[in-house]
Amino acid sequence: MATFTKHSEDDEGLPHATKKTMADHLRKFEALFNMTPQRMRMIVEAFKESLEQGLAKNGQIVPMIPTYVFGWPSGKETGMYLAVDLGGTNLRVCLVKLEGGGKFEITQAKYRLSEEQKQEDGQRLFDFCAECLKAFIDSHQESGLIPKDEVLPLGFTFSYPCSQERIDHGVLIRWTKGFGAPNTEGHDVVEMFRKALAKNSVPASVVALTCDTTGTLIASHYVNPKTRIACIFGTGCNAAYMERVRDIPKIAELGIDPDTEMAINCEWGAFDSFEHENLPRTKYDQIIDETSNKPGEQAFEKLISGRYLGEILRLIICELIDEGVLFLGQNTYKIEIPYSLDTAFLSLMESDPTDELLMIIGIFSHFFALETTLAERQFFRALAKLVARRAARLSACGIAAIVSKMGYLEEGCAVGADGSLYNKYPKFADRIHEGLQDIFGEKGKNIVTYHAEDGSGIGSAIVAAMTKERKDANIYPNY
Ligand code: GLC
Repeated sequence: MATFTKHSEDDEGLPHATKKTMADHLRKFEALFNMTPQRMRMIVEAFKESLEQGLAKNGQIVPMIPTYVFGWPSGKETGMYLAVDLGGTNLRVCLVKLEGGGKFEITQAKYRLSEEQKQEDGQRLFDFCAECLKAFIDSHQESGLIPKDEVLPLGFTFSYPCSQERIDHGVLIRWTKGFGAPNTEGHDVVEMFRKALAKNSVPASVVALTCDTTGTLIASHYVNPKTRIACIFGTGCNAAYMERVRDIPKIAELGIDPDTEMAINCEWGAFDSFEHENLPRTKYDQIIDETSNKPGEQAFEKLISGRYLGEILRLIICELIDEGVLFLGQNTYKIEIPYSLDTAFLSLMESDPTDELLMIIGIFSHFFALETTLAERQFFRALAKLVARRAARLSACGIAAIVSKMGYLEEGCAVGADGSLYNKYPKFADRIHEGLQDIFGEKGKNIVTYHAEDGSGIGSAIVAAMTKERKDANIYPNY
């Protein structure tokens, strides 16, 4: 039974949970969300195995997609490229001028995608991309930035798992990040996008399809050649790295030189999907999974990415409301709305610099019409930390799996990372680094993440440039 006392700062006389009740609950959640170094090492081992399986055969849990991006950029790539980036939250169109020597210029426009757009017919979604691109090109032809009568090469960043037979092809395996547009899974998205470009007479030709991670890998290496791995920690969570073709058994029959390198889009968000054998899932994680549009899928991503962290905390709060611990006598309908607690709120909770945690007061009163005591606010902040720390430590497990598989630990490597969680969530990077040291000991310090270059814009343009150069030189022209 929860007990209530009147808190000194609580003028309205609403019953609030005592400090002691909050502390007792916190201990329970600490135990639930904590990950010991030993547990992390076990996850790394299972993760490594999953990566190997994905490289060996098609249709595995972690898809390990060969991208037909052959090796690293030379840094000398130049030219003018368009990039279209359909990510988790926004559609972005960019004009990128690669100047060589790691230099570039970028002009861009961003459009927020509505929830309806994510669920409407797939061709309609690609038509929308083409329409936005058309408007962008028209306005920059007016301003003189884009020459008239020229068809520009385009890199299409489509950040969902697609199986590719060549670089300008990709069959959507499954939607992730809450998308559900019908008539798209099982279809070649490049063909759908080309159809939309033709329908709208857009002067652009799709040269390459990439994922944000692959783009980030290439763009980061363009400016920091120590980069070996790229990760996205945003609405979704994924990684890419460069693999030797000889170590990708599933494409052995293609006749590509085994010493060649090719970028692999891991799609690691799918790790442990369906079987749920390796990851520490709480009942809150299970609820998120079961109520999602894709139950069973993206098991790793659902514990880590920005789309879900706020929801995990909200579910805990709702449970404590149901148990009569929190907000007794207050109208809690607003916080009971699924996904109403954005991950950005967690980030604000953790970064609140005031003793009284005034920002947290603001979040709860303004967005949820709820009054909180200091003890409750401290509790929420501690919970946010537990949820986000677990996400960062799991991310460290994924990075460690690639590092250990590729043997990068001794010499060390840089990991280009991007996405709202990595860029905006306080201490996310520090916690990844701490996790890497828990896994590898002192040597974990050799693996350093840093804020990456814009992969979906610059990276996509560089990939388009590399592809044009490769095909002009008649190197694997059919891929
Ligand atoms: C999801 C997508 C993946 C993408 C990641 C980050 O996991 O499936 O393609 O890289 O989100 O945006």
